[in-house]
Amino acid sequence: MTKIVSAKIQKKSGKASKKSFKQTLQDFDKNKNKNQNKINKNLKDPSKKPNKYSKVKNGSNNVTGSTAVSVPSSSATSAPSSSLIQGSSSKLSSLQHQFLKKLEGARFRTINEELYTTRGDVAFQEFQRDPSKFEIYHKGYRDQAALWPVNPLDSIIQWIISCHKKATIADMGCGDARLAASVPNKVHSFDLVAVNTTVTPCDIAHVPLATGSVDIVIFCLSLMGVNMPDFIKEALRILKINGILKVAEVRSRFGDNKGILAFNKFLQRAGFEVKAHDRMAQNKMFFEVECVKMTDEGIVDDTFELKPCQYKKR
Ligand SMILES: C[S@@+](CC[C@H](N)C(=O)[O-])C[C@H]1O[C@@H](n2cnc3c(N)ncnc32)[C@H](O)[C@@H]1O
Repeated sequence: MTKIVSAKIQKKSGKASKKSFKQTLQDFDKNKNKNQNKINKNLKDPSKKPNKYSKVKNGSNNVTGSTAVSVPSSSATSAPSSSLIQGSSSKLSSLQHQFLKKLEGARFRTINEELYTTRGDVAFQEFQRDPSKFEIYHKGYRDQAALWPVNPLDSIIQWIISCHKKATIADMGCGDARLAASVPNKVHSFDLVAVNTTVTPCDIAHVPLATGSVDIVIFCLSLMGVNMPDFIKEALRILKINGILKVAEVRSRFGDNKGILAFNKFLQRAGFEVKAHDRMAQNKMFFEVECVKMTDEGIVDDTFELKPCQYKKR
């Protein structure tokens, strides 16, 4: 019995990217009674071992430096935090919660892959058409970030508060706009979908700011589209001369140290002087670079690419 339930979960998880999550949820609800009978029968039989989905896994932060980052597994006993789950399944068993979590994880990984393998303008159209993608992505992203030993955004916030309190800032790919909420500065926050009124929804290759109007541009884990060089061009456009560009990225996106040096070279050719290189060198998970705009006459290499960041299923 355990095997049958597990096999069904695996099969349905695999289909999550093809079906809409809500549709799958509805299908699941239809079969709820049938599944519950099987589960009850299983629970009544003490000789049955718990299956792998009922194990409580250790939520370690998995700082491995490998090319993939793990999606956190969840405890079988923990309540689901997503509004989607809470709203529609308050009577579900913990096994069913686990199943829904798996579906959410699959959906998150699909959207994440989409963001890393499409252009920013295409992602913008898609997220505007279906803003629930943003919600699902950010739920998965928050779960993931909660397990990191450090979040690069925290270090950026500290850096602004201690060194650049008066600077005007553009936060490109701001997510839930935590940066703007954490510093006293004037912050222009941009993302594919606006979580609140402080955020302007747009593609960060084209932000509605005047040329040479900001002191600092931040890309915190947001150089996602395949046309990433266009985001750097836009940063160059809106930055004043001597303005600062700050990039934090998942280290594995650069491959190895050579990849990091190639990225620095790409920025130098574009017109920046690299000031603080890899302040987080001891951090196996993230890379951070800070540079100053020296000229408008640089050359941005349109062919430069970073590897997509994949979130491993655990
Ligand atoms: C990994 S999240 C990081 C969010 C935030 N910077 C933080 O550190 O919490 C990356 C964000 O970049 C946004 N993003 C990716 N490509 C974008 C684009 N072309 N235009 C606007 N936002 C984009 C995503 O929607 C997502 O919110």
